[in-house]
Amino acid sequence: MTTQDAEAIRLAVRERYGEAATLAGRGEPAVDGAASFGAPLYDQNALAELPQAAVAASLGCGNPTALADLAPGMTVLDLGSGGGIDVLLSARRVAPGGKAYGLDMTPQMVELARQNQTESGVENAEFLLGNIESIPLPDASVDVIISNCVVNLSTDKPRVLDEAFRVLRTGGRLAISDIVLMRQLPPLLAGLVGLWTGCVAGALVKDELERQLTAAGFVSVSVEPVRTLDRAELAELAKDLDPAVVAGLNPEATLDALDGVITSSFIRARKPG
Ligand SMILES: C[S@@+](CC[C@H](N)C(=O)[O-])C[C@H]1O[C@@H](n2cnc3c(N)ncnc32)[C@H](O)[C@@H]1O
Repeated sequence: MTTQDAEAIRLAVRERYGEAATLAGRGEPAVDGAASFGAPLYDQNALAELPQAAVAASLGCGNPTALADLAPGMTVLDLGSGGGIDVLLSARRVAPGGKAYGLDMTPQMVELARQNQTESGVENAEFLLGNIESIPLPDASVDVIISNCVVNLSTDKPRVLDEAFRVLRTGGRLAISDIVLMRQLPPLLAGLVGLWTGCVAGALVKDELERQLTAAGFVSVSVEPVRTLDRAELAELAKDLDPAVVAGLNPEATLDALDGVITSSFIRARKPG
């Protein structure tokens, strides 16, 4: 991918999630595309304690807090924290003595997350504006990195994984939910920016993700599909897509090509030592 293509994708991602933040801030659902698997996976009692706008802005494809194994005193970092749902839930679990950071490149999302934090009364959380390819935290300062449907959106995934490795303490863990593909997308689909911003076209194939995690230095790497979209679910999701995104595609052939390919997966890895 050229630098120009990567920049165009980054801008499209920021625009899409900026709009989603604005909708959620008004209390309207911001859910669309593959980034909508997550909401039913949360403990509804825990969600009831969060502001409505944090729940409405939930655009994840899993629930990384369920696999993060958090304990009081830990420092947690959420890559691409959106409206803040996973940061606010994690902050409660690392109190007392711990802290949860959220990092997001979309100013409207960071603003929304900060409003949600104020409303929720959670004090041990902090939302940072910045890129997950260049994490604004010191080396070896984080115990657990979580993330929910974000790494797939990056145009430089090896750099994201290198940065995650850098900020983790020795023995620190990566516990993330993301879209992972079971096989390569047909080239026509892989080139659609609308499918990239919707968390599909930028997702890695499972083997390649495992390879990149290992290349970054992680051990105990595991990628576990927890949900696979079948043809009927894909057809349902396609109804929400902007017609311009899928113009020119043969709907039946596209559904055939994608059947069983798109998964929401749990990704675990550890910094050795
Ligand atoms: C699908 S939403 C998920 C938000 C949140 N994790 C959740 O579960 O609701 C993707 C989020 O990642 C952010 N994002 C995408 N690429 C990013 C990058 N390279 N650096 C920082 N944030 C990024 C977007 O701004 C957006 O808020």
